[in-house]
Amino acid sequence: MKELTQRRNLDFKHIINKIKSDGMAEIDNFLDEDSVEKLQKYIFEEINNQPKGYMGCVGKKNLKGSPLENIDSEYGINSILESLLPQISGNKIKDKKLYQVLRVLFGENQGLKKAYKFHYDAYALTALLPILIPEREDGMNGDFLYSMQRRKLHQNFLRNVIEKFIIQNSISQFFLSKSFIRKKLNLKVCRLKPGKLYIFSGFQTIHGNSPCSPNSPRATVLFHYADPFSQNMCFKLVERLNILRVDLKRKIGK
Ligand SMILES: [Fe+2]
Repeated sequence: MKELTQRRNLDFKHIINKIKSDGMAEIDNFLDEDSVEKLQKYIFEEINNQPKGYMGCVGKKNLKGSPLENIDSEYGINSILESLLPQISGNKIKDKKLYQVLRVLFGENQGLKKAYKFHYDAYALTALLPILIPEREDGMNGDFLYSMQRRKLHQNFLRNVIEKFIIQNSISQFFLSKSFIRKKLNLKVCRLKPGKLYIFSGFQTIHGNSPCSPNSPRATVLFHYADPFSQNMCFKLVERLNILRVDLKRKIGK
């Protein structure tokens, strides 16, 4: 199988070095053109079926029967993340759960509302697979933005709440929406390209995206791997409520 051959040929040492030195590793030609086209066709069908706005979905259960349902195992994404984790976490994190999200920005100004929502992910590693990325001359393509200033990978629940609050509150989000602040903080800009796979430490890296035109759909699949707080009941409750909240918002299209 072509994809698995590609995975076997991956240089994990190089990927880890890139994540540690540049904040992110890019794997070229991860999907061939036919696969990208097939996935793009699926996204357009979903968008056309929901003219009020389609936001994608959270979890695999909502992708049943779609070409995205088993994409993690078909392309060996879970194996790649499993191989990388010990070198990122130093065997501290035992959780091996993969949490899949299809994120679509389109219609009703979704691409504007979701811009500059900087955050840390809840999981140690994040793989980002762009499916549909606008190529607009006005620059409203939803570029991926991230910081090289990273927090430590840890399992202290209170510290995690405080760190997340510092970034994910409306005042910080306001300042981070200003380009001179982003320049001062040396935030990096990555123009995503369908067919590539991007891997970074979502837990450690502040990240978000630039505005995306409401007229041009942007679709990415996110694979979140290894939860440092998998044993923490408080965290599980907060996460469960968050999934329900996002699910509900997507259902009512807000
Ligand atoms: Fe994220």
